[in-house]
Amino acid sequence: MATAVAKRLAGKTVVITGASSGIGRSTAFEFARTAAAAGGLKLVLTARRIDSLKQIATDIVAEVGEGNVKVLPVQLDVSKPDEVRGFVEKLPEEFKEIDVLVNNAGLVKGVARAPQIAEEDVNTMFNTNVTGLINMTQAILPIFLRRPNGGSGDIINIGSVAGREPYAGGSIYCATKAAIRSFTDSLRQELIASRVRVMEIDPGQVETEFSVVRFYGDKAKADAVYAGCDPLTPDDIAEVVVFVAGRRENVVVADTLIFPSHQAAAGVMHRKS
Ligand SMILES: NC(=O)c1ccc[n+]([C@@H]2O[C@H](COP(=O)([O-])OP(=O)(O)OC[C@H]3O[C@@H](n4cnc5c(N)ncnc54)[C@H](OP(=O)(O)O)[C@@H]3O)[C@@H](O)[C@H]2O)c1
Repeated sequence: MATAVAKRLAGKTVVITGASSGIGRSTAFEFARTAAAAGGLKLVLTARRIDSLKQIATDIVAEVGEGNVKVLPVQLDVSKPDEVRGFVEKLPEEFKEIDVLVNNAGLVKGVARAPQIAEEDVNTMFNTNVTGLINMTQAILPIFLRRPNGGSGDIINIGSVAGREPYAGGSIYCATKAAIRSFTDSLRQELIASRVRVMEIDPGQVETEFSVVRFYGDKAKADAVYAGCDPLTPDDIAEVVVFVAGRRENVVVADTLIFPSHQAAAGVMHRKS
């Protein structure tokens, strides 16, 4: 027996950026598991690591059954405007009618403070987290706006507590996430006459590859971030993503902030000694 949420998601096409790892990967599984009972879900999984996406696609189909979900892995670097521009056009016809865009791809590089922040890291963070998210949104919005009643579809942006509370050693990352927040809030106002839902989810600490990327592959430094903590898992955030996408059309979960229980602010973390 399909739940109300499964029925609402049935037949939808969902695009997830940064689906090769962490929150994006979990979100792909969660959509498939939730919608499976009603069938017809189509997932477009994008990231730079195409081999990981192919494996995730295989694993999802194996878990929920071939007849219940179609998964398309697509190599896409959101920081490259040309790749984003050609993205929709290159999709097979059956995946072109996108209903949900999860703008999740993002990263932080280093903990350097001005004036020592590498220019390359500044550009990577802004090009991925901000320009990439804006370009993806602009590439897919025309599909939403062609629909009746001024248009419909979901844009779910993954921000961060860092976008609300800047901290030393994270100035660029915090600035990118604050930019996402402003863009998201402006966009919701611009689309007020449509049925397009613009939603932001701001996680606190989640254990993924995020810190490994921050410390340029140094796993020991990444592990130290979570020492004595009980962080969120990527599945915790994925459940919220699918929850907001699965509400009745007139319900917009505009903004959410999610912490593990021992976190109370970007830098306020209780650590077990
Ligand atoms: N973990 C946390 O504590 C935390 C907290 C708040 C917010 N967030 C946000 O959550 C989102 C997901 O991060 P995560 O924690 O799941 O980290 P993660 O495990 O490192 O996953 C990041 C994903 O983004 C993709 N990505 C990075 N650069 C990309 C690019 N140029 N083009 C396309 N995809 C790209 C990566 O795939 P490829 O490398 O294969 O391209 C990967 O799939 C990010 O926006 C992050 O800022 C995380």
